[in-house]
Amino acid sequence: MPNPVIVITGASRGIGLAVTRSLLKEHNAHVVTISRTRTPELSQLIQEHEQSLLTLECDITDEPAVKTISTSIFSRSLPAIRASLPDLRESKGRIIFISSGAATGNIYGWGAYNASKAAMNSLSRTLASEEPSIVSLALAPGRVDTAMQAVLRDAGAQHMKATDHKNFVDAYNEGTLVNPYDVGYVIAALSLRAPLSLTGQFVKWDNEECREFRRK
Ligand SMILES: NC(=O)c1ccc[n+]([C@@H]2O[C@H](COP(=O)([O-])OP(=O)(O)OC[C@H]3O[C@@H](n4cnc5c(N)ncnc54)[C@H](OP(=O)(O)O)[C@@H]3O)[C@@H](O)[C@H]2O)c1
Repeated sequence: MPNPVIVITGASRGIGLAVTRSLLKEHNAHVVTISRTRTPELSQLIQEHEQSLLTLECDITDEPAVKTISTSIFSRSLPAIRASLPDLRESKGRIIFISSGAATGNIYGWGAYNASKAAMNSLSRTLASEEPSIVSLALAPGRVDTAMQAVLRDAGAQHMKATDHKNFVDAYNEGTLVNPYDVGYVIAALSLRAPLSLTGQFVKWDNEECREFRRK
């Protein structure tokens, strides 16, 4: 049986790149990615996985562009969530939302981010109730060592409480940030194997419910 096709948004770097890499190298999956740029790391994966990786360069917020590019390749519209529901129902597929502890937190100065992640969790829960054959779950990846953390350290001081900013700087200096390839493996495994019992849940990547999806 051919491996399922997984669509990843934001695959040029960070967590999305790590998930893509894990799916291709550790799970032997077929992957379609969407991102605005093609980084050297993504280009390398394209070279190594010609048969199993398809990359689309496009801004995910530009709906007409996503429609045009995906229709030309798949003869149908991908992957705005609504458009992919018929396929997901048929395949009993999975949607993994990359959420954050911010979804239930209240970090000063982060109103838009906190609210957008809370809304994401709500969308995930609602999809779980509306689509009983699809697994829809939201995952908090912890503080991951990506460009996003570098931006917080470098430019966050002006917008955050000094104690909050110091927490981010200390986590980096003390080496306690999560390795993107560890959390990437868990997200990749969940996208292939998450059971219906997890649908609607908000899970933290290193909690008990994700134990069986970690790299052994
Ligand atoms: N890092 C953390 O500590 C952390 C913690 C909790 C939650 N998260 C969540 O994890 C997710 C990934 O974060 P990250 O740390 O991996 O961030 P990152 O290193 O900044 O990477 C973000 C990715 O998203 C892509 N992207 C951004 N806007 C896009 C758009 N409009 N269209 C298409 N692609 C777009 C970027 O690619 P291009 O620029 O090439 O388009 C890039 O590949 C985010 O949702 C973040 O909120 C991260």
